[in-house]
Parts: sequence; structure tokens; C-alpha cells
Amino acid sequence: TWTTTNVVEESVAAIRERVGSKRAICGLSGGVDSAVAAALVQKAIGDQLTCVYVDHGLMRKGESEQVEKDFVAATGVQLKVVEAEERFLTALAGVSDPEEKRKIIGREFIRVFEQAQAELVAEAGAAGEDVEFLVQGTLYPDVVESGGGTGTANIKSHHNVGGLPDDIEFQLVEPLRRLFKDEVRMVGQELGLPDEIVHRQPFPGPGLGIRIIGEVTKERLDLLREADAIAREELTAAGLDRDIWQCPVVLLADVRSVGVQGDGRTYGHPIVLRPVSSEDAMTADWSRLPYDVLSRISTRITNEVDQVNRVVLDITSKPPGTIEWE
Ligand code: XMP
Repeated sequence: TWTTTNVVEESVAAIRERVGSKRAICGLSGGVDSAVAAALVQKAIGDQLTCVYVDHGLMRKGESEQVEKDFVAATGVQLKVVEAEERFLTALAGVSDPEEKRKIIGREFIRVFEQAQAELVAEAGAAGEDVEFLVQGTLYPDVVESGGGTGTANIKSHHNVGGLPDDIEFQLVEPLRRLFKDEVRMVGQELGLPDEIVHRQPFPGPGLGIRIIGEVTKERLDLLREADAIAREELTAAGLDRDIWQCPVVLLADVRSVGVQGDGRTYGHPIVLRPVSSEDAMTADWSRLPYDVLSRISTRITNEVDQVNRVVLDITSKPPGTIEWE
């Protein structure tokens, strides 16, 4: 029978047996999945695990600080932080195709993990094959939608599944590969992770990189970070965090429209709000947010974010739209 206690016990035993006395690293993204995967593996192999947080410059405002603080405080895990903004932005320069972006981001993640692996081995003065395992928080829907399930189409390459490079040398440990998000949350709770982590809304590994429609640049990221922070602030203030599954905020960087702001004409970019409700992200419906909340978000974004003169609401369910725009 399926109980979270059984899932935890079985996974812990399986991980112990597989990893043995070797070492593993786990990429932490700040999301529920990687946090729960890391906590499970930590329970199994203790300090043979090192978590790696890659700051790829595609995170939301304040997110990196939060990961470093919350997760380490909750678990006492060993954490290595890698600043990789320049690396990711250089690799993404000139790229607007969604799948190409996803593959580049998936590849760069692995390259950073390999570097972290080499550094850890050097620090420990141990043999090169010592860190062999890479822990990922891949869920069942990620596998299915990346074309890894049976009889399913490849909808998009999730950064840690279809977006992985072919020459990867790590052995993957993916303890959540058969679970849905609500089950992962239950496992997180069972492992004693705090509510702020367990109930965090999903955020994709490729981050804001797939929420800028068009080329990803530092300037556009900064702009989107501001708009996103406003939307999140207002949704939280309205007490809506638990009512919605997530609310991607998307910058249509290649689209411009005419507006009037202050004394005159502007020619700016639209921001899209994509609030959705869902059980497992396989299907979703657009959230009927209160008009006054939408109104506050729209007014604040157009007033406070440079170069944005229009806010639009995405009222498409999934299918036919996916949750993220890319
Ligand atoms: P879509 O856009 O496919 O998204 O309807 C379904 C859910 O998955 C998240 N998502 C990702 N998560 N890596 C992740 O870790 C990815 O590459 C990725 N792509 C989408 C998305 O935010 C939504 O919750």
C-alpha cells in the first residue's frame, strides 16, 4: 500500500544500497522537488551528500538568498553555491528558440555540476571517481512531458530530463521519478521540511530564461524580475498563494505596443500574467483572480517597471496552452 512512510523507507533503502560509500551531489533549485529529493538522499547517506545551488542569473528576485537560508536552516545540509550568471547568459546569447534554450540550460547545469564535482574531489584529495552520483528532483510529469513515458509526445524538454546532454558522466539518482507533486509534498512533510518549502509554488529549473519570449539578456531579466516581484507581492498580500498553483509572469520581449504614460507616447513591451490552478500540472485551468487584485498588479507594473506599458491576462487552459509559454 502507498503511504508516505513506506515511500520514504523504501527510497532511503534503495538509495543507500545504490550509492554505497560513494559521494553524491544534488542540484538545488529552490523548488519543492529538488528540496525533497535532497532531504531523502540526505536521510539515506548523510554527509556523503553535498548540495549545489547554481545561481544562473535566471532566478527571481530574492530567490537565491532564500534557498541558501531556508534549506540549509531546515536540513543542515552541506551547500556549495556556484555563481554562474555570466556562463549561462553567454551560452544563451542570441538564442530565442524555446527548445534550444532548454537544451543549453540543461547542458550548462551539467557542466557546472561536473566542475563542482571536480572541486569537491580536489578538496577531499580523493580519487576522481569518488563523486559519482547526481541527485535530481525529476517528477513523473517531467518524464512524461519530455517524451520519456510510454506513448506520449515530446511536449517540451524539461531541463533535467530531455534537456540533458548526451555525454553526461554522472549516474542519476531520481527518487521522485514515479511521484506527482502532491505526493512529493507529502513526502517532504514526512521528512520534516518546513511549510515554506513544502508549499512553495512550482518554478521551472530554466527559470526566467523560458519566461522571456525572445532572446534572454541581463536587461530583460532585470525588467522581468521587477514585474514578477510585484505580481508575487500582490498575490501574497491578497492571501491567494494557496489558491493558485503558480503564476508565471512572462515578458514578450520581441513585441512592442504604443502606450501613453506621463506626458507622452511610449513604445513598450507587454507583460503577461498566467495564473493557473492545477492538481498535477498535466492539465490546468486559468485562475479566476479577483479583479481588484489584477487591477493593482497591472497599475503597479506599468507604473513601476520601466519599458512596460501593458499588462495582459492569459485565459487559456492546459490543454491547449501549456502552463509556461516556452
Ligand atoms: P508546462 O509548461 O509544461 O509546465 O505546462 C508544467 C509544469 O512544469 C514546470 N516546468 C518545469 N520544471 N524544469 C522544471 O523543473 C523544466 O524544464 C520545466 N518546464 C516546465 C512548469 O513551471 C509547470 O509547473
